[in-house]
Amino acid sequence: MVTIVVGLQWGDEGKGKVTSELGNNAEVVIRATGGNNAGHTVVYKGKKYALHLLPSSIMKKGVKNIIGPGVVIDPEVLTQEIKIIFGESSAVGKLVISNKAHIIFPYHKSMDQLHEEFKEHKIGTTGRGIGPCYCDKANRVGIRMGDLISCTEIELRAKIREAIAIPNILFQNTGHVEWGVSENTIYELCCKYKQSLESYIVDVQPIINKAIDNNTLIVIEGAQAFNLDIDHGDYPFVTSSNPVSAGACCGAGIGPTQVEKVIGILKAYSSRVGEGPFPTELTGDEGSVIRELGHEYGTTTGRPRRCGWLDLSKVATAAKINGCTTLCVNHMDTLGLIGLKLQHIKVCIGYDDEKQPIYSYFKGWKIDKCCKTYEELPMNATKYIEFIEEHTGVAVQYIGIGPDDEDVIKRW
Ligand code: IMP
Ligand code: MG
Repeated sequence: MVTIVVGLQWGDEGKGKVTSELGNNAEVVIRATGGNNAGHTVVYKGKKYALHLLPSSIMKKGVKNIIGPGVVIDPEVLTQEIKIIFGESSAVGKLVISNKAHIIFPYHKSMDQLHEEFKEHKIGTTGRGIGPCYCDKANRVGIRMGDLISCTEIELRAKIREAIAIPNILFQNTGHVEWGVSENTIYELCCKYKQSLESYIVDVQPIINKAIDNNTLIVIEGAQAFNLDIDHGDYPFVTSSNPVSAGACCGAGIGPTQVEKVIGILKAYSSRVGEGPFPTELTGDEGSVIRELGHEYGTTTGRPRRCGWLDLSKVATAAKINGCTTLCVNHMDTLGLIGLKLQHIKVCIGYDDEKQPIYSYFKGWKIDKCCKTYEELPMNATKYIEFIEEHTGVAVQYIGIGPDDEDVIKRW
């Protein structure tokens, strides 16, 4: 039984929260794509944790947390995260890392900066080296987690020489000699990474296959989101992987016929970090109202997020291409308050001939803290949910009404 959780907007929809909830019954939780460009806030026993690479169910005892073959890993970040989580939390699940996952080295981060420097239209990447690492993977000069444990020194050094040749030429010719890296420096880094992560690196396929054969719940936790998908998003203002459900299958190593559910996560409004189109964006005071009420600042970079109204026409496309079976609408509490403050809520349902959004209007609401069922929600809120269902053709199963894991109404 495989369930995939995907983002339907520009990321930061609250995927971690739903994954964490599903993790209560899962045997395996897998991160399948992206790297530490992602930032998932997870609240565990009243304490907030910002996870970038560890799957959101890492605090759940008994869950096998897998970092899949499709993920790109910065070992420095992962080691730090493991230290914090395993050091502070008494109940931690098991962690394994795919031997096929590619490694992000410091020269990938320098390359990320170099690309941005030479772009006329900057992407506003997270600067974490994600794109250049996927680039090396496609160019077949990447170094994988498994190489740390299976290569001899001679084999690993040969791979390193191939990997750093072109970045070093570029650094020299663009006036960034200081970014240059030597074979020895990278080899030493590999030894360090091996020492801290060796015990987690395995072939993850047998673990996944066994869970499929036993018919236990496997959850694939999506990272980033539909509009950042390299094939389906707002190219070139996208990330360098496929955050859609099909990409999740690929990045985890699971055939599409094994997938039972695809849960699409959206926020009741929209936010975006980085550059690129955002037709329903609110730039003035109205945008600030959303940013402040929704605490819309990046988990990874701390950048203030751009905020605006829900774009249902984009969400409907996202739900279709992801093959969503149900939806989760988060921040319904926040949007209600935004509506009360601004005296209306707008939802984009399409575009006119000048490509300007066409809006439907809604009234705000206030959701009581003790509200536990759909029937207890204010009528203005249920009207909004039903409008989303009509326009996407997909049922809303989960409704987020607060920041904690438990603040979710599950309709069935
Ligand atoms: P990159 O993934 O660092 O290459 O950045 C490409 C674009 O995707 C930038 O606009 C980033 O801000 C955005 N992005 C990447 N990961 C996330 C995420 O997890 N949440 C929101 N935006 C993201
Ligand atoms: Mg995030």
